[in-house]
Amino acid sequence: MHFPVIGQELHSNELRQVYNHERMPLPVNSSHWHVLGAGAMGCLFASQLQQAGCPVTLVLRQTGAAATARVQLARNGDSLYFDTPVSCAAEKSTISHLLVTTKAQDVCVAVLSVAHRLSAQSQILLLSNGLGYARDLQERLPRPQYFYGTTTAGAYRIDDHGDIDPGPGGETPFRHIRHAGQGLTRIGQPGRAAPPDWFSQWSTAVQPSSWDPHIEQALWLKLAINCAINPLTALHRCSNGELAAPGMAPQVTGLCDEIVQVSEAAGYGGVTADLHARVSEVIEATASNRSSMLQDVLAGRQTEIQYITGHLLSVARAHGVDVPRNEALFRSILARDN
Ligand SMILES: NC(=O)c1ccc[n+]([C@@H]2O[C@H](COP(=O)([O-])OP(=O)(O)OC[C@H]3O[C@@H](n4cnc5c(N)ncnc54)[C@H](OP(=O)(O)O)[C@@H]3O)[C@@H](O)[C@H]2O)c1
Repeated sequence: MHFPVIGQELHSNELRQVYNHERMPLPVNSSHWHVLGAGAMGCLFASQLQQAGCPVTLVLRQTGAAATARVQLARNGDSLYFDTPVSCAAEKSTISHLLVTTKAQDVCVAVLSVAHRLSAQSQILLLSNGLGYARDLQERLPRPQYFYGTTTAGAYRIDDHGDIDPGPGGETPFRHIRHAGQGLTRIGQPGRAAPPDWFSQWSTAVQPSSWDPHIEQALWLKLAINCAINPLTALHRCSNGELAAPGMAPQVTGLCDEIVQVSEAAGYGGVTADLHARVSEVIEATASNRSSMLQDVLAGRQTEIQYITGHLLSVARAHGVDVPRNEALFRSILARDN
Protein backbone atom coordinates (compact mmCIF):
# COMPACT_ATOMS: atom_id res chain seq x y z
CA MET A 1 0.00 0.00 0.00
CA HIS A 2 1.36 3.46 -0.83
CA PHE A 3 0.48 6.76 0.76
CA PRO A 4 1.09 9.55 -1.71
CA VAL A 5 0.56 13.03 -0.32
CA ILE A 6 -0.46 15.73 -2.72
CA GLY A 7 -1.03 19.39 -2.17
CA GLN A 8 2.12 21.09 -1.04
CA GLU A 9 4.16 18.36 -2.70
CA LEU A 10 2.19 18.53 -5.92
CA HIS A 11 5.20 19.61 -7.94
CA SER A 12 7.18 16.45 -7.27
CA ASN A 13 7.82 14.58 -10.53
CA GLU A 14 7.04 11.28 -8.90
CA LEU A 15 3.58 12.41 -7.87
CA ARG A 16 2.90 13.89 -11.29
CA GLN A 17 3.61 10.43 -12.70
CA VAL A 18 1.27 8.85 -10.20
CA TYR A 19 -1.65 11.09 -11.04
CA ASN A 20 -1.23 12.36 -14.56
CA HIS A 21 -1.88 9.04 -16.21
CA GLU A 22 -5.52 9.31 -15.14
CA ARG A 23 -6.09 13.00 -15.76
CA MET A 24 -5.81 15.44 -18.62
CA PRO A 25 -3.40 18.35 -17.96
CA LEU A 26 -5.28 21.52 -17.02
CA PRO A 27 -4.62 25.06 -18.23
CA VAL A 28 -2.33 27.14 -16.01
CA ASN A 29 -5.06 29.65 -15.11
CA SER A 30 -7.27 27.12 -13.28
CA SER A 31 -10.21 28.41 -11.26
CA HIS A 32 -9.48 28.61 -7.55
CA TRP A 33 -12.24 26.71 -5.75
CA HIS A 34 -13.11 27.47 -2.15
CA VAL A 35 -15.05 24.57 -0.65
CA LEU A 36 -17.59 25.47 2.02
CA GLY A 37 -18.73 22.35 3.89
CA ALA A 38 -15.61 20.29 4.44
CA GLY A 39 -17.44 17.04 5.16
CA ALA A 40 -17.66 13.86 3.11
CA MET A 41 -18.70 15.39 -0.22
CA GLY A 42 -16.75 18.62 0.20
CA CYS A 43 -13.52 16.72 0.86
CA LEU A 44 -14.24 14.29 -1.99
CA PHE A 45 -14.71 17.09 -4.52
CA ALA A 46 -11.81 19.07 -3.06
CA SER A 47 -9.49 16.09 -3.44
CA GLN A 48 -10.61 15.44 -7.02
CA LEU A 49 -10.10 19.09 -7.98
CA GLN A 50 -6.75 19.18 -6.21
CA GLN A 51 -5.63 15.92 -7.78
CA ALA A 52 -6.35 17.47 -11.18
CA GLY A 53 -4.18 20.48 -10.36
CA CYS A 54 -6.85 23.07 -9.47
CA PRO A 55 -6.07 25.38 -6.56
CA VAL A 56 -8.45 24.42 -3.72
CA THR A 57 -9.05 25.90 -0.28
CA LEU A 58 -11.30 24.47 2.42
CA VAL A 59 -13.33 27.16 4.16
CA LEU A 60 -13.84 26.42 7.86
CA ARG A 61 -15.75 28.25 10.55
CA GLN A 62 -12.52 28.45 12.49
CA THR A 63 -8.95 27.53 11.69
CA GLY A 64 -5.96 26.84 13.91
CA ALA A 65 -2.39 27.89 13.32
CA ALA A 66 -1.83 25.43 10.45
CA ALA A 67 -2.21 26.73 6.90
CA THR A 68 -3.30 23.33 5.60
CA ALA A 69 -5.51 20.48 6.74
CA ARG A 70 -4.77 16.88 5.87
CA VAL A 71 -7.58 14.94 4.19
CA GLN A 72 -7.25 11.18 3.95
CA LEU A 73 -9.26 9.67 1.12
CA ALA A 74 -9.85 5.91 1.18
CA ARG A 75 -10.65 4.43 -2.21
CA ASN A 76 -10.32 0.96 -3.69
CA GLY A 77 -8.40 -0.33 -0.70
CA ASP A 78 -5.82 2.46 -0.96
CA SER A 79 -5.33 5.76 0.85
CA LEU A 80 -4.46 9.14 -0.62
CA TYR A 81 -3.47 12.12 1.51
CA PHE A 82 -4.18 15.73 0.56
CA ASP A 83 -2.64 18.64 2.40
CA THR A 84 -5.24 21.21 1.50
CA PRO A 85 -5.00 24.93 2.28
CA VAL A 86 -7.61 26.17 4.74
CA SER A 87 -9.21 29.56 5.18
CA CYS A 88 -11.35 30.86 8.01
CA ALA A 89 -14.76 32.07 6.83
CA ALA A 90 -14.12 35.45 8.47
CA GLU A 91 -10.97 36.10 6.41
CA LYS A 92 -11.05 38.92 3.89
CA SER A 93 -9.57 37.48 0.68
CA THR A 94 -11.95 37.36 -2.28
CA ILE A 95 -13.62 34.13 -3.37
CA SER A 96 -14.05 33.70 -7.12
CA HIS A 97 -15.47 30.13 -7.18
CA LEU A 98 -17.36 28.75 -4.20
CA LEU A 99 -18.47 25.12 -3.98
CA VAL A 100 -21.12 24.63 -1.27
CA THR A 101 -21.42 21.13 0.21
CA THR A 102 -22.98 21.67 3.61
CA LYS A 103 -26.22 19.97 4.57
CA ALA A 104 -29.22 21.79 3.09
CA GLN A 105 -30.23 23.38 6.40
CA ASP A 106 -26.75 24.93 6.79
CA VAL A 107 -26.39 26.44 3.31
CA CYS A 108 -27.75 29.92 4.08
CA VAL A 109 -25.80 30.50 7.27
CA ALA A 110 -22.61 29.08 5.73
CA VAL A 111 -22.73 31.18 2.55
CA LEU A 112 -23.71 34.33 4.46
CA SER A 113 -20.64 33.80 6.66
CA VAL A 114 -18.47 34.44 3.57
CA ALA A 115 -20.75 37.06 1.95
CA HIS A 116 -18.13 39.77 2.49
CA ARG A 117 -15.72 37.78 0.27
CA LEU A 118 -18.13 37.44 -2.65
CA SER A 119 -18.71 39.86 -5.52
CA ALA A 120 -21.03 40.03 -8.52
CA GLN A 121 -18.39 38.03 -10.43
CA SER A 122 -18.25 35.21 -7.87
CA GLN A 123 -19.61 31.88 -9.07
CA ILE A 124 -21.37 29.78 -6.44
CA LEU A 125 -22.05 26.11 -7.11
CA LEU A 126 -24.67 24.69 -4.73
CA LEU A 127 -24.36 20.90 -4.47
CA SER A 128 -26.34 20.23 -1.33
CA ASN A 129 -29.35 17.95 -1.50
CA GLY A 130 -32.95 19.16 -1.46
CA LEU A 131 -34.62 22.31 -2.75
CA GLY A 132 -35.76 25.61 -1.30
CA TYR A 133 -32.57 26.87 0.36
CA ALA A 134 -31.33 28.49 -2.87
CA ARG A 135 -34.32 30.80 -3.08
CA ASP A 136 -33.84 31.89 0.56
CA LEU A 137 -30.15 32.48 -0.08
CA GLN A 138 -30.62 34.42 -3.32
CA GLU A 139 -33.15 36.72 -1.68
CA ARG A 140 -30.55 37.63 0.92
CA LEU A 141 -27.51 37.57 -1.36
CA PRO A 142 -28.57 38.28 -4.94
CA ARG A 143 -25.24 39.51 -6.38
CA PRO A 144 -23.15 36.38 -7.08
CA GLN A 145 -23.90 34.01 -9.96
CA TYR A 146 -25.52 30.79 -8.80
CA PHE A 147 -25.14 27.33 -10.31
CA TYR A 148 -26.88 24.18 -9.13
CA GLY A 149 -25.82 20.58 -9.08
CA THR A 150 -26.79 17.13 -8.06
CA THR A 151 -24.61 14.07 -7.79
CA THR A 152 -24.98 10.32 -7.52
CA ALA A 153 -21.39 9.98 -6.27
CA GLY A 154 -21.15 8.77 -2.69
CA ALA A 155 -18.77 9.37 0.21
CA TYR A 156 -18.88 9.15 3.96
CA ARG A 157 -16.76 10.18 6.88
CA ILE A 158 -14.82 7.37 8.49
CA ASP A 159 -13.66 9.72 11.25
CA ASP A 160 -17.31 9.85 12.35
CA HIS A 161 -16.72 6.35 13.69
CA GLY A 162 -13.54 7.34 15.50
CA ASP A 163 -11.33 5.68 12.87
CA ILE A 164 -8.44 8.14 12.65
CA ASP A 165 -5.33 6.79 11.05
CA PRO A 166 -2.09 8.78 11.38
CA GLY A 167 -0.69 9.17 7.89
CA PRO A 168 2.80 9.89 6.58
CA GLY A 169 4.80 11.80 9.17
CA GLY A 170 2.40 10.65 11.87
CA GLU A 171 0.11 13.60 11.17
CA THR A 172 -3.48 12.99 12.19
CA PRO A 173 -5.85 13.77 9.32
CA PHE A 174 -8.41 16.53 9.80
CA ARG A 175 -10.82 14.35 7.80
CA HIS A 176 -10.79 10.66 6.88
CA ILE A 177 -13.36 9.94 4.21
CA ARG A 178 -14.24 7.00 2.04
CA HIS A 179 -15.13 7.43 -1.61
CA ALA A 180 -17.99 4.93 -1.55
CA GLY A 181 -19.26 5.12 -5.10
CA GLN A 182 -18.64 6.69 -8.48
CA GLY A 183 -21.55 8.67 -9.85
CA LEU A 184 -22.60 11.35 -12.29
CA THR A 185 -22.51 15.00 -11.21
CA ARG A 186 -24.93 17.19 -13.17
CA ILE A 187 -24.52 20.95 -13.09
CA GLY A 188 -26.55 23.73 -14.63
CA GLN A 189 -28.10 27.16 -14.32
CA PRO A 190 -31.75 27.66 -15.24
CA GLY A 191 -32.07 29.28 -18.66
CA ARG A 192 -28.42 28.74 -19.56
CA ALA A 193 -27.73 26.36 -22.42
CA ALA A 194 -23.92 26.58 -22.54
CA PRO A 195 -21.64 25.94 -19.56
CA PRO A 196 -19.45 28.68 -18.03
CA ASP A 197 -15.69 28.75 -18.68
CA TRP A 198 -14.83 26.91 -15.45
CA PHE A 199 -16.90 23.86 -16.37
CA SER A 200 -14.31 22.26 -18.70
CA GLN A 201 -11.75 22.21 -15.85
CA TRP A 202 -14.37 21.00 -13.41
CA SER A 203 -15.46 18.14 -15.64
CA THR A 204 -11.86 17.06 -16.18
CA ALA A 205 -11.38 16.87 -12.43
CA VAL A 206 -14.74 15.50 -11.30
CA GLN A 207 -15.54 12.60 -13.59
CA PRO A 208 -18.11 12.05 -14.86
CA SER A 209 -19.77 15.47 -14.82
CA SER A 210 -22.26 16.83 -17.31
CA TRP A 211 -23.69 20.26 -18.04
CA ASP A 212 -27.46 20.08 -17.82
CA PRO A 213 -29.40 22.88 -19.55
CA HIS A 214 -32.52 21.64 -17.72
CA ILE A 215 -31.03 21.33 -14.25
CA GLU A 216 -34.34 22.31 -12.57
CA GLN A 217 -35.85 19.11 -13.92
CA ALA A 218 -32.94 16.98 -12.68
CA LEU A 219 -33.20 18.59 -9.23
CA TRP A 220 -36.96 18.03 -9.11
CA LEU A 221 -36.62 14.38 -10.11
CA LYS A 222 -33.99 13.86 -7.41
CA LEU A 223 -36.31 15.53 -4.88
CA ALA A 224 -39.24 13.35 -6.00
CA ILE A 225 -37.23 10.13 -5.63
CA ASN A 226 -35.83 11.25 -2.28
CA CYS A 227 -39.34 12.07 -1.01
CA ALA A 228 -40.51 8.56 -1.91
CA ILE A 229 -37.59 6.71 -0.29
CA ASN A 230 -35.65 8.63 2.35
CA PRO A 231 -38.28 9.58 4.94
CA LEU A 232 -39.87 6.11 4.93
CA THR A 233 -36.51 4.42 5.48
CA ALA A 234 -35.77 6.89 8.28
CA LEU A 235 -39.16 6.29 9.92
CA HIS A 236 -38.94 2.50 9.74
CA ARG A 237 -35.14 2.39 10.20
CA CYS A 238 -34.83 0.07 7.26
CA SER A 239 -32.57 -0.32 4.24
CA ASN A 240 -33.75 0.97 0.86
CA GLY A 241 -34.38 -2.60 -0.31
CA GLU A 242 -36.81 -3.31 2.53
CA LEU A 243 -39.21 -0.80 0.97
CA ALA A 244 -39.95 -3.45 -1.69
CA ALA A 245 -41.47 -5.79 0.95
CA PRO A 246 -45.24 -6.37 0.66
CA GLY A 247 -45.93 -4.42 3.87
CA MET A 248 -44.00 -1.37 2.67
CA ALA A 249 -44.48 -1.20 -1.11
CA PRO A 250 -48.04 0.21 -0.90
CA GLN A 251 -46.73 3.06 1.27
CA VAL A 252 -44.16 3.89 -1.41
CA THR A 253 -46.88 3.79 -4.07
CA GLY A 254 -49.11 6.10 -2.01
CA LEU A 255 -46.31 8.63 -1.62
CA CYS A 256 -45.48 8.45 -5.34
CA ASP A 257 -49.12 9.05 -6.30
CA GLU A 258 -49.12 12.29 -4.33
CA ILE A 259 -45.69 13.36 -5.58
CA VAL A 260 -46.82 12.88 -9.19
CA GLN A 261 -49.87 15.10 -8.55
CA VAL A 262 -47.70 17.86 -7.10
CA SER A 263 -45.24 17.53 -9.98
CA GLU A 264 -48.01 17.88 -12.54
CA ALA A 265 -49.40 20.95 -10.78
CA ALA A 266 -45.93 22.52 -10.63
CA GLY A 267 -45.15 21.91 -14.32
CA TYR A 268 -42.90 18.87 -13.80
CA GLY A 269 -45.43 16.29 -15.00
CA GLY A 270 -43.10 15.09 -17.77
CA VAL A 271 -40.23 14.63 -15.30
CA THR A 272 -42.17 12.32 -13.00
CA ALA A 273 -44.31 10.54 -15.62
CA ASP A 274 -42.60 7.23 -14.77
CA LEU A 275 -41.86 8.02 -11.11
CA HIS A 276 -43.20 4.72 -9.74
CA ALA A 277 -40.89 2.73 -12.04
CA ARG A 278 -37.89 4.95 -11.33
CA VAL A 279 -38.38 4.69 -7.59
CA SER A 280 -38.64 0.90 -7.85
CA GLU A 281 -35.41 0.85 -9.87
CA VAL A 282 -33.59 2.94 -7.27
CA ILE A 283 -34.90 0.74 -4.45
CA GLU A 284 -33.65 -2.35 -6.23
CA ALA A 285 -30.31 -0.86 -7.32
CA THR A 286 -29.54 0.48 -3.81
CA ALA A 287 -31.21 -2.35 -1.87
CA SER A 288 -28.48 -2.71 0.74
CA ASN A 289 -27.96 1.06 1.22
CA ARG A 290 -29.03 3.11 4.19
CA SER A 291 -30.43 6.40 2.94
CA SER A 292 -28.70 9.57 4.10
CA MET A 293 -31.81 10.46 6.11
CA LEU A 294 -31.70 7.14 7.94
CA GLN A 295 -28.00 7.66 8.63
CA ASP A 296 -28.76 11.10 10.06
CA VAL A 297 -31.52 9.68 12.29
CA LEU A 298 -29.30 6.84 13.52
CA ALA A 299 -26.47 9.27 14.27
CA GLY A 300 -28.82 11.64 16.12
CA ARG A 301 -28.17 14.40 13.55
CA GLN A 302 -30.74 16.78 12.15
CA THR A 303 -32.15 15.48 8.85
CA GLU A 304 -32.65 17.42 5.60
CA ILE A 305 -36.42 16.73 5.72
CA GLN A 306 -37.31 20.46 5.65
CA TYR A 307 -35.66 20.76 2.22
CA ILE A 308 -36.90 17.42 0.85
CA THR A 309 -40.49 16.58 1.87
CA GLY A 310 -40.81 20.07 3.39
CA HIS A 311 -40.19 21.61 -0.02
CA LEU A 312 -42.67 19.24 -1.67
CA LEU A 313 -45.30 20.29 0.87
CA SER A 314 -44.75 23.99 0.25
CA VAL A 315 -45.11 23.48 -3.52
CA ALA A 316 -48.23 21.34 -2.92
CA ARG A 317 -49.70 24.09 -0.75
CA ALA A 318 -48.97 26.76 -3.37
CA HIS A 319 -50.88 24.73 -5.96
CA GLY A 320 -53.70 23.57 -3.69
CA VAL A 321 -52.77 19.87 -3.89
CA ASP A 322 -53.58 17.63 -0.93
CA VAL A 323 -50.68 15.36 0.14
CA PRO A 324 -51.76 13.74 3.44
CA ARG A 325 -49.32 10.81 3.30
CA ASN A 326 -46.29 12.99 2.67
CA GLU A 327 -47.49 15.42 5.30
CA ALA A 328 -47.82 12.72 7.96
CA LEU A 329 -44.36 11.41 7.15
CA PHE A 330 -42.92 14.92 7.31
CA ARG A 331 -44.41 15.47 10.76
CA SER A 332 -43.05 12.16 12.05
CA ILE A 333 -39.49 12.89 10.93
CA LEU A 334 -39.66 16.49 12.08
CA ALA A 335 -40.79 15.33 15.53
CA ARG A 336 -37.65 13.16 15.72
CA ASP A 337 -35.45 16.05 14.57
CA ASN A 338 -36.69 18.35 17.31
N1 LIG B 1 -22.41 11.87 1.41
C1 LIG B 1 -22.92 11.50 0.25
O1 LIG B 1 -22.66 10.38 -0.26
C2 LIG B 1 -23.84 12.43 -0.52
C3 LIG B 1 -24.21 12.09 -1.82
C4 LIG B 1 -25.03 12.95 -2.55
C5 LIG B 1 -25.44 14.16 -1.97
N2 LIG B 1 -25.04 14.46 -0.69
C6 LIG B 1 -25.49 15.74 -0.15
O2 LIG B 1 -24.33 16.59 -0.01
C7 LIG B 1 -24.49 17.44 1.13
C8 LIG B 1 -23.30 17.25 2.08
O3 LIG B 1 -23.35 15.91 2.55
P1 LIG B 1 -22.14 15.28 3.38
O4 LIG B 1 -22.44 13.83 3.53
O5 LIG B 1 -20.85 15.71 2.79
O6 LIG B 1 -22.35 16.01 4.80
P2 LIG B 1 -21.29 16.21 5.98
O7 LIG B 1 -20.25 15.15 5.91
O8 LIG B 1 -22.08 16.40 7.22
O9 LIG B 1 -20.59 17.59 5.59
C9 LIG B 1 -21.17 18.85 5.77
C10 LIG B 1 -20.08 19.76 6.27
O10 LIG B 1 -20.57 21.11 6.30
C11 LIG B 1 -19.93 21.74 7.39
N3 LIG B 1 -20.63 22.98 7.75
C12 LIG B 1 -21.89 23.10 8.25
N4 LIG B 1 -22.16 24.41 8.49
C13 LIG B 1 -21.04 25.10 8.15
C14 LIG B 1 -20.68 26.48 8.18
N5 LIG B 1 -21.54 27.43 8.63
N6 LIG B 1 -19.45 26.84 7.77
C15 LIG B 1 -18.56 25.93 7.33
N7 LIG B 1 -18.83 24.60 7.27
C16 LIG B 1 -20.07 24.20 7.68
C17 LIG B 1 -19.99 20.69 8.47
O11 LIG B 1 -19.07 20.99 9.48
P3 LIG B 1 -19.26 20.34 10.96
O12 LIG B 1 -19.08 18.87 10.76
O13 LIG B 1 -18.17 21.01 11.71
O14 LIG B 1 -20.63 20.71 11.39
C18 LIG B 1 -19.60 19.44 7.69
O15 LIG B 1 -18.20 19.28 7.67
C19 LIG B 1 -25.85 17.05 1.76
O16 LIG B 1 -26.83 17.92 1.27
C20 LIG B 1 -26.08 15.63 1.26
O17 LIG B 1 -27.43 15.27 1.20
C21 LIG B 1 -24.25 13.63 0.03
